[in-house]
Amino acid sequence: MRLPKHDLVSIEDFSQAEIERIFVLADQFSAALESGEKCTLAHGLIMATLFYEPSTRTRLSFESAMHRLGGSVISSADMHASSAAKGESLADTVRVVSAYADLIVLRHPRDGAARVAAEYAACPLFNAGDGSREHPSQTLCDLYILRKRKGRLKGLTIAICGDLKFGRTVHSLIYALARFGANIVAVPQAGMEVPEYVLERIAVERNYCFSTVSISELSSLAGDGGLDALYLTPSAPHQMALFTSDLPLAKIPSGEAPAALDAFYVTRLQRERLPDKGAGAEAYVHFDARALKTTRTQAAVVMHPLPRTDELAYELDADPRAAYFEQAAAGVPVRMALIAWLLEQASQRAARTPIAPEAPRFSPQPAVRCANVNCITRHESAYLTPRFTLARNPDRSRLMLRCDFCERELGAEFVGHVRTHRYYRFDDNLRGYVRQWIEEGSLAVFETVKQAEESGYEPYRRGPQREIMNAAGISRTLDDLAGQIIAGTADPGNMVIAGIFSRGTILAMRLRELIEARTSVRPPCISIDVYSGSDPLRMVDGGDEIDISGRTVVLIDDVINTGWTVQRAMALLWQRGRPAAASLAVLIDRGHHAIPIRPNYVGKNIPTVRSERVLVRLDSSPADAHRKSSDRVVIYSILDSMKEPAVAQ
Ligand code: NCD
Repeated sequence: MRLPKHDLVSIEDFSQAEIERIFVLADQFSAALESGEKCTLAHGLIMATLFYEPSTRTRLSFESAMHRLGGSVISSADMHASSAAKGESLADTVRVVSAYADLIVLRHPRDGAARVAAEYAACPLFNAGDGSREHPSQTLCDLYILRKRKGRLKGLTIAICGDLKFGRTVHSLIYALARFGANIVAVPQAGMEVPEYVLERIAVERNYCFSTVSISELSSLAGDGGLDALYLTPSAPHQMALFTSDLPLAKIPSGEAPAALDAFYVTRLQRERLPDKGAGAEAYVHFDARALKTTRTQAAVVMHPLPRTDELAYELDADPRAAYFEQAAAGVPVRMALIAWLLEQASQRAARTPIAPEAPRFSPQPAVRCANVNCITRHESAYLTPRFTLARNPDRSRLMLRCDFCERELGAEFVGHVRTHRYYRFDDNLRGYVRQWIEEGSLAVFETVKQAEESGYEPYRRGPQREIMNAAGISRTLDDLAGQIIAGTADPGNMVIAGIFSRGTILAMRLRELIEARTSVRPPCISIDVYSGSDPLRMVDGGDEIDISGRTVVLIDDVINTGWTVQRAMALLWQRGRPAAASLAVLIDRGHHAIPIRPNYVGKNIPTVRSERVLVRLDSSPADAHRKSSDRVVIYSILDSMKEPAVAQ
């Protein structure tokens, strides 16, 4: 029997119902293994395991699973002993191997390698870990044991600790937990936070956010009287309840029982993926029995994908709450179930329901390189053309492209049309045209004007503007905003103002003056440049960055549209410290929020249609007596100017 071409590249490739079915099969195989019952389900089938990286559990349990099902295995456990060492491409290798086997299991150090391999392999391919991206079959084992231990997945609260940046098991696990309705508390090692592309995927696809606490807060998180990071409250599940003004990170009120933690998922520092392989090791999390001593953690299971290094104490092994050896043992029945599921699909004629509509893929011209240095497209460029989808994150001022292989995002400020040779500064109004150009294969993408012009492109016009607020209006609105902020902040003396560069920063400085005039308190003011790679945070008055831990942070921006910029700013701030409370003030709320972030203080609600652009112009220093302020807010639509879209046929 030929196995159907159902690849498992991401955990998102399988529906919830399919995962449930795999668990039913895994239960049956567990029982069969227990009773010693023989199985011949996969008799005559060959599985090839291609491992370009070390593995114990994953390879051996996949191979054991195939043997237990009566099938056989061919293996190149050490790809350095294969033609890869002679420089053979991944595409050629899997093409060849799919003529020798019915199923391929691949582990590879490059992000996105499994996607490439799945495209070139004629047979189904299972991803056994691709770089720091995903490890979906490990997640099936993790979920299987978690559910077995706790009886359900929905509503559980799981603290995921350690290297959440490079840990591929964590990424697949987060996607799955978000889907199954569990609550996540991320406890990353400093600098090892969950990557943005993972956060954005769950935010957009599942309307899901989770809280993050620092490693140093792990003991208070576990403690009975300590930190309640579970502000993903049942009444507002998965909402960014941070923006509920003054009580985001509550201390548990005395007398109240703290919310229980159901599991800790601890991970190893992925040292082999660090640019500086030795860095970060000293202060890495060490999880031991102390974390399990409180009422709150009484029933918490301890999980780990293994191998462990120093992050998980051996003393826990005897504790009945330790589940990590069970996770590893589940590798055999769960992977048997995965293969058996494929066989089941082969025998059923009904077509599989697609998981999600496929986003159109495109390769812009001139060729755009993926920004991720570990992306497979940067290493197998002889035959791989970088390919993108439109990112789910609709940044209003840049066209966000998502690498179709490694999922990393890339922002482009300028787009063009290859036949008319016009270029445009990207803004949200162009999105419809861009979609059309993608379909026609005529999208050009540029990082800079210089690049566009040197490629022979000319600029296009912009439509007329209409003023919706003048300098006096802005001044009045700011006055009102300052009043709202003061009224909403219990202790202005503890306040820190953080403006999102550039216009948010100007507004923050002006609001600070207004707040000082009314309260005699001059809050420190930070500027956050969300798109600056190197130095995103600075104090507007110069000097050293202040510690925001325990402070009340008021984040300020000119316009909130989708909310993505605010989310980025938040993430940057939180890497530096842990505010006691945070809120958001905006001059204008356009109301197109794409993610669950709502401003606490709004100057003016200006509902707009997406084809309009709201532009806030601000003097960078306030006008003095001799100079009239040129502050204004304008709105313009570029639809008219695009009526004769520069698309000459
Ligand atoms: C994991 C991996 O390879 O990503 N191991 C595994 O498959 N169980 C985790 C790790 O190496 O830390």
